Amino acid sequence: MARKADEPLVLGIETSCDETGVGIVRGHTLLADAVASSVDEHARFGGVVPEVASRAHLEAMVPTIQRALDEAGVSAKDLDGIAVTAGPGLAGALLVGVSAAKAYAYALGKPLYGVNHLASHICVDQLEHGPLPEPTMALLVSGGHSSLLLAPDITSDVRPLGSTIDDAAGEAFDKVARVLNLGFPGGPVIDRYAREGNPDAIRFPRGLTGSRDPAYDFSFSGLKTAVARWIEAKRAAGEEVPVADVAASFQEAVVDVLTRKAVRACKDEGVDHLMIGGGVAANTRLRAMAQRRCEDAGITLRVPRPKLCTDNGAMVAALGAEMVARGRSASSWELSADSSLPVTETHVPAEEGHGHSHGHSHGHGHAHDHDHVHELSKKNLYES
Ligand code: KG4
Ligand code: ZN
Repeated sequence: MARKADEPLVLGIETSCDETGVGIVRGHTLLADAVASSVDEHARFGGVVPEVASRAHLEAMVPTIQRALDEAGVSAKDLDGIAVTAGPGLAGALLVGVSAAKAYAYALGKPLYGVNHLASHICVDQLEHGPLPEPTMALLVSGGHSSLLLAPDITSDVRPLGSTIDDAAGEAFDKVARVLNLGFPGGPVIDRYAREGNPDAIRFPRGLTGSRDPAYDFSFSGLKTAVARWIEAKRAAGEEVPVADVAASFQEAVVDVLTRKAVRACKDEGVDHLMIGGGVAANTRLRAMAQRRCEDAGITLRVPRPKLCTDNGAMVAALGAEMVARGRSASSWELSADSSLPVTETHVPAEEGHGHSHGHSHGHGHAHDHDHVHELSKKNLYES
C-alpha cells in the first residue's frame, strides 16, 4: 500500500526529562500531541528531581497514551510502529518510556523504534514546515542541551559540530532567574522582563568567542557567574537591582553567541537552512536575532511553534515515522534506555543478524562515528 510506505502512522513516547509526551503522526502530519508535565512538582527544588520525574511518568503514561489516541481519532491496532526516546536523558525517566513502548508494541504486534532525543528535536520541524532539506543545520538549546548539529540524513547521519562545555543555555536562564528570585523555570520569566529592559545596559561576557576558541562550542558558566557577581555587588552597595536591564543584558549575551555560532556553522558548511529547537527556541529575542542574522546571510530559518520546541511525544513520533518511511530497521525487544546515547546514534536498530535489518549498514558504525566526532573537535580547536 503506497500510503503506508510514505505516510506511516506512528505513536511516539517521550520521557527523557519531566514531560510525559505522547504524540501521533501520519507521515509529516501531526494528529495528536498529548503532554503531562511534572514541572510544578519540581519548582520548589529549583530543578528537575529525577525520582519525582520517574514516578510522575509512571502515573501519567497510560492516561496520556489514551488521550493521544482519542485526540488523533485512530485505533492502536492501525499503528505502523511505536517509537520511544531511548536516550539521552535521565536514566530512570527514560526507562519508564522504553518499558511502556515495549509493552504496547509487544501486545499490539507492532515494530518498536528506540530513537535519539536530539534527532527527534530536529525532525519535529517536518510537522510544521514540511520535509527537512538535507543537509540541515540544527541549533538545539534547552535546559539539558546546547548543540550545533549537522544532519545530512536525520534517520542515520547526524554529526555534532559543537556543544556546551559547561552549562546548557536553558540552565543558564534558570540559574540567573534563581539569583534574581524569579522562580523556575527561568527562561519564560527572563524573556518577559527582558522586553522592558535595555540589552546594552550591562556588557556581559560572550563565552568562547575569542579567535583561538573552538568555533562551535559554547560556554555559559562564566556568563552566569558574571551576572551573579554583578548582582551581588549591587546588593552589597545597597542599591536596587535593575531586574529588567539585567535580564535583557544577560539574554542578549546568550542569544548573541548562539546565533553568531549557528550562522557561522551554516556558512562554513555551505548549508542554507537553519532549524532551532529545544525549550530556549521559544525565546523571543533568540527568534528575532536569528531571523535577522539568517536573512543577512541568505539562510532560511525554521523554528517550530513553541509547543513543538519543548520536549513532546510528537517529535519522537515524527522521527519514528521517518524511520519507517525510509525502511530503517526496528529495535529488538532487548532495547534499553541509554542515558548518554551519543547523538550520532539516531536510533537503536536490532543487532545485525537478529533478523530485523533492512539492508542499511549502521551496525559497524560506532568506532567510526566517535572518530568522526574527534576529528571535528580537533578542527574546531585549530581552525578558528
Ligand atoms: O526543551 P525543554 O522543555 O526541556 C529540556 O530541558 O529538555 O527546555 C526547558 C528549558 C528551561 O531551561 C527553560 O528555562 C527554557 O527551556 N526556556 C526558555 C524559554 N522558555 C523555556 N529560555 C529562554 N526563553 C524562553 N522563552
Ligand atoms: Zn529536549
